Amino acid sequence: MKPSREDEAEPAGGPWEECFEVAVQLALRAGQIIRKALSEEKRVSTKTSAADLVTETDHLVEDLIISELQKKFPSHRFIAEEAAAAGAKCVLTLSPTWIVDPIDGTCNFVHRFPTVAVSIGFAVNQELEFGVIYHCTEERLYTGRRGRGAFCNGQRLQVSGETDLSKALVLTEIGPKRDPATLKLFLSNMERLLHAKAHGVRVIGSSTLALCHLASGAADAYYQFGLHCWDLAAATVIIREAGGIVMDTSGGPLDLMSCRVVAAGTREMATLIAQALQTINYGRDDEK
Ligand code: IPD
Repeated sequence: MKPSREDEAEPAGGPWEECFEVAVQLALRAGQIIRKALSEEKRVSTKTSAADLVTETDHLVEDLIISELQKKFPSHRFIAEEAAAAGAKCVLTLSPTWIVDPIDGTCNFVHRFPTVAVSIGFAVNQELEFGVIYHCTEERLYTGRRGRGAFCNGQRLQVSGETDLSKALVLTEIGPKRDPATLKLFLSNMERLLHAKAHGVRVIGSSTLALCHLASGAADAYYQFGLHCWDLAAATVIIREAGGIVMDTSGGPLDLMSCRVVAAGTREMATLIAQALQTINYGRDDEK
């Protein structure tokens, strides 16, 4: 992490303060549960593919977060990963909406690979207001509130200012589809960036934590096809508030439901990555 002003306190107050504080407390509670469960035996099931995993802890944590939020904010709406997997529609209306991933990095969690997070995003009028991501094993709490900066454990986050792809460290994730055509496109996208002489391309198994690394300046760009709105909502606020760019892989504005993204510390870098990529079609979250 490269905090730009280490002594700067995270500002309090604002219209959604209570919601933000509740999100932080729930993320920390969820993190405790996940940390304890990481080393225990797990019941693992698959969802859309053999690589798309879910455990009883994903369900337990999601139920905890959603039931607590419903008690406190009964008029709010919810989009959550495991509810969506069970058939709930992902619709982002103008109402205050919570967008929740109970365990991001479930495959890591299953293997006890310690890169696992809880992600809670909040949108009002279809605009992202804040994001809270808790790296459960490293006990790092990433937060971003619209107009009020992004922080990790109280230290301000700042993206890298790199504009040159040949000097970039790029992050991506594989996504759940493993059919030959998808894998060919995935590998060829990676190859294009390596041909462009990017310093490296990393896959860490958690979209939200990869995006947090970008927000903290530890990487210069991120792209992915096949992630979901619950992987992206909280992280988008954190990156924007750290000074970064989050856009569609076409180079246009971000569409939270489109299952694809390019993010970078600078617009120049995001545009170079977007231009290099071939599209992998994953459909839309709001059409499933
Ligand atoms: C997944 C992880 C994975 C990424 C997928 C995500 P989950 O989230 O972030 O790294 O490739 O696209 O959906 O299923 O572990 O919450």
